[in-house]
Amino acid sequence: MNSASVNILGVAVITLLVGAAVLLTMVRYELGPKSRLARGGQWLLATALGTGILAFALKLVIMLAIVNFPETLVEPLIRKAIVERPVAVADPLYGMTSPQRFVWQPLPMVTESISTGSHATTNNSTYVWEALPEQAPSPKNNPVTPEKVALGERLFFDKKLSRDGTLSCSTCHDVIGGSGDDGRARSIGIDGQQGGRNAPTVWNTAFQSVLFWDGRAVSLEEQAKGPLVNPTEMGMVSLTAVEERIRKDTTYQQAFAQAFGVEQPITIQRIVEAIAAYERTLITPDTPYDRFVRGDLDALSPEQLQGMALFQSLGCVSCHFGPNFSGASLFDPRAPMRIFPIYPTPYEQQYELTHDSGAAGGGGGRGSWRVPSLRNVALTGPWFHNGSVTDLAEAVRVMSSVQLGRTGRYLVWADTNKVFTQLDRPELDEHEVNDIVAFLHALSSDKLVQRIQLSKAQAGVAFANN
Ligand code: HEC
Ligand code: HEC
Repeated sequence: MNSASVNILGVAVITLLVGAAVLLTMVRYELGPKSRLARGGQWLLATALGTGILAFALKLVIMLAIVNFPETLVEPLIRKAIVERPVAVADPLYGMTSPQRFVWQPLPMVTESISTGSHATTNNSTYVWEALPEQAPSPKNNPVTPEKVALGERLFFDKKLSRDGTLSCSTCHDVIGGSGDDGRARSIGIDGQQGGRNAPTVWNTAFQSVLFWDGRAVSLEEQAKGPLVNPTEMGMVSLTAVEERIRKDTTYQQAFAQAFGVEQPITIQRIVEAIAAYERTLITPDTPYDRFVRGDLDALSPEQLQGMALFQSLGCVSCHFGPNFSGASLFDPRAPMRIFPIYPTPYEQQYELTHDSGAAGGGGGRGSWRVPSLRNVALTGPWFHNGSVTDLAEAVRVMSSVQLGRTGRYLVWADTNKVFTQLDRPELDEHEVNDIVAFLHALSSDKLVQRIQLSKAQAGVAFANN
């Protein structure tokens, strides 16, 4: 029994005892003698009045119980009632419209803006949610053409781009089976070497302003040169060696001529331009979230909607904002890099979060990292730059603690005015974590989910046939 219910019971028992004592005294020495009631009559009167007192005590108990109920008991009831209520509204501008569905979200939590960033979304109430465009932008000096895309696709899948012919880009970025990564904590490159970081998905990288976990490449063209000569990835001795190998393959000559014009030599720059053009077609605007934002109000479940509201009110949007859910996107590239982890927590040791401090290492391993897109994040585990977290709910717990400081109560020292201010940042409860996870699933592409299911089913069939 918790302390709240002990308090309630205590008040009830005391009210009852005091009430009964007063009543019995009144009936025995005042009302009884005055109205000349016999003993039986006095008991009857006491019982009648006693029922009243009992009812009063009961009311008191109910009132106190409601006030003291743990939020977790009452809140889901309120949530359900609010989220699932379709409302017909009269449109003030256009008169009575056909019954329209409005979705009312109770504000799950009020957060004051904290000093985790400078982005203009600190005023949560005006955050505008946006869908992903149906096409990715391409730079002026490398316009996307069908010929270039076809060539880039071929290169992306060509193992000739690795020193010993064992690896292609698609080895670590599986776009056929679905998620655009390799499903490993850290990638396995040439000669079976394990790299230091988790392979991010290539889906929607076309919308990112900086690439790699530490943001060290500013374009897909520049990025593609990295893995080719990385000794733990494709292991080519030099970019010139890549160029020579592709030149030697006569079947590539026609494809390059179609993509870049005859007489244009095959160069490493054209190789990466073709790969980048192909990558700009790897986008996923087909998610429940995008359908919801485009006007299909049934596209999200009540849990996903609740999670979406929490994602905003907790402040996840201060870093994962815009159509690609990243401060490092071409839509608004003002805040691409963030310190991670910001707040010291036990998660730091548990998941070795400071082991690698990314770009521009800060003090104590608190380095600076590119804010990743969260599109398809439910399909791309394990999570974080070192792939150390294998459960999405745990990734959400980690994020809310290390980036938003949702770990409990604090006294925060403000050095400018020399005062402590109390800050209440309770940990997320399981309900909230699950709602956010549900919302993250709404960022998964329908097409990719289908492909993954299909490839799993095929793997099942292959297994059964063996
Ligand atoms: C051995 C596995 C492996 C191979 C092969 C590989 N990659 Fe990667 N890729 C990775 C890893 C690991 C990272 C993250 C590295 C980092 O951030 O330091 C990455 C990062 C990327 C990114 C950046 C994604 C983002 O969100 O920032 C893109 C784009 C990409 N790779 C495309 C390619 C292309 C194109 C090729 C072929 C030329 C390729 N990769 C080959 C493992 C691989
Ligand atoms: C202060 C900026 C910031 C805030 C606030 C923030 N994130 Fe992040 N998030 C990041 C950075 C930076 C990373 C990359 C961390 C790394 O290096 O592994 C990241 C990574 C993630 C990942 C793992 C992505 C992957 O592909 O492995 C998830 C999931 C995530 N964030 C969800 C959330 C959620 C949910 C919230 C709100 C509770 C949130 N984030 C709040 C900056 C932030």
